Amino acid sequence: MEKILVVDDEPSLRDVLSIMLKRTGYEVTSVADGEEAVELLHKEIFDLVITDLRMPKVGGMEVLKAVKSASPETVVLVITAFASADSAVEAMKQGAYDYLTKPFQVDEVQLIIRNALEKRRLTTENILLKREMASQSSFAQLVGQSDAMQKVFEIVRKVADSKSNVLICGESGTGKELVARAIHYNSARSTMPFVAVNCSAVPETLLESELFGHMKGSFTGAISNKAGLFEVANGGTIFLDEIGDTTPTIQVKLLRVIQEREFRRVGGSQDVKVDVRIVAATNKDLEKAVADGSFREDLYYRLDVIPIRLPPLRLRSGDIPLLVSHFLEKFSKESGKPVPVLSSDAMHVLLAHEWRGNVRELENLIERVVAFSTGGTVTDTDVQGWLHRTVSPQQQQAGVPVDLTDEGVDLEGLVNGIEKDLLLKALERSKWVKKKAARLLRLNTRSFRYRLEKYAIKGGRD
Ligand SMILES: Nc1ncnc2c1ncn2[C@@H]1O[C@H](COP(=O)(O)OP(=O)(O)OP(=O)(O)O)[C@@H](O)[C@H]1O
Ligand SMILES: [Mg+2]
Repeated sequence: MEKILVVDDEPSLRDVLSIMLKRTGYEVTSVADGEEAVELLHKEIFDLVITDLRMPKVGGMEVLKAVKSASPETVVLVITAFASADSAVEAMKQGAYDYLTKPFQVDEVQLIIRNALEKRRLTTENILLKREMASQSSFAQLVGQSDAMQKVFEIVRKVADSKSNVLICGESGTGKELVARAIHYNSARSTMPFVAVNCSAVPETLLESELFGHMKGSFTGAISNKAGLFEVANGGTIFLDEIGDTTPTIQVKLLRVIQEREFRRVGGSQDVKVDVRIVAATNKDLEKAVADGSFREDLYYRLDVIPIRLPPLRLRSGDIPLLVSHFLEKFSKESGKPVPVLSSDAMHVLLAHEWRGNVRELENLIERVVAFSTGGTVTDTDVQGWLHRTVSPQQQQAGVPVDLTDEGVDLEGLVNGIEKDLLLKALERSKWVKKKAARLLRLNTRSFRYRLEKYAIKGGRD
């Protein structure tokens, strides 16, 4: 049954509306002033609110505002006197669905309400549909045709709906977070929160209060009670990233949540129960960490119920062509450019590369290729240039700056690439006589040497 709230200070009007709407089959609550309405709106969710605009104390505009902030999907109808159409228009601008002018016909009101609720149903369905599509595309984003990745997909599909803990291991950039999301969005929990926590980014005490929350006054700076991320993720999935970097204290606390599904806030005296699916990830060798005592063995076995190992990209180069076309399409679509074509030599360069940064490195490279593409075929020289993070001569001539997008750029990598490139060029030009090379770069010998060491450039004479 759909719930309607009627707000009007005029008893007769309020009663007429309530009786009529109840008879039509709605569940109706009615209040006599705006203040009461605002209070109620914070506690209950209504499908539709009908409010008079002019009321003593708190008026209809404020009721409208309260609805929009408490539950934006609730439909609002305002009632105005015939003389004040201006305020009705203002209310519509603020998000009211329609207005009724006094005096009104009963069947006119019924028609408007039926249409309004129909519209609301469609928006809600739309939201659900969008969520559904988002979850499907989040799985579609994960591409790979190698046996190793096919196995990963199979595990993701099989375990998504179980509650078992998952541990994802793999080098940086192999797609651990993407797999964690795929597990969540393919599970029955997909409409509940997915909460990612990077366990290495925050110091121990802060991480504890982040994860488990805290009570007011439990430490300096705890000015109010705060729910932890385990509470926020209730009903959904928590992704504990870089779990290998947690301290023994945090490890004990995690063990307790995993075993008992309950924990205490920092400074709290009550246990909080949660229903959370745990997916953890690390780029460390956890077995080794267990062996040398830096990671608790019991925690490791609790997490590693479903192990997923993501192999480095260099061991599954069969995935490279597929990833390349996936990223070419993705970045071209984002920038509204035609999809560039790679020459087969260019593809060979990519297949042979070591990919220390794994899929992330490949993704960044393709992003650059697309950003600088001028429509022709992308050659192996272009790709080489990008791989060594330098700007190709044509691009320099064209004065193309490095593009900064929402994904960000690896400033240090870019600058280092240029620096290393110029060091080598200077050495070559000066036949590896270091003093001369240093002069070409306007550096003193000491800082020149320091840089050679930094990039492990060996050989040459003083
Ligand atoms: N199989 C894949 N298909 C498509 N995109 C991928 C795939 N694997 C990784 N990516 C992309 O590569 C980037 C890095 O992936 P992700 O952040 O999941 O890696 P990670 O293993 O968590 O890395 P880190 O250890 O550095 O946090 C992301 O932008 C992700 O979308
Ligand atoms: Mg990650």
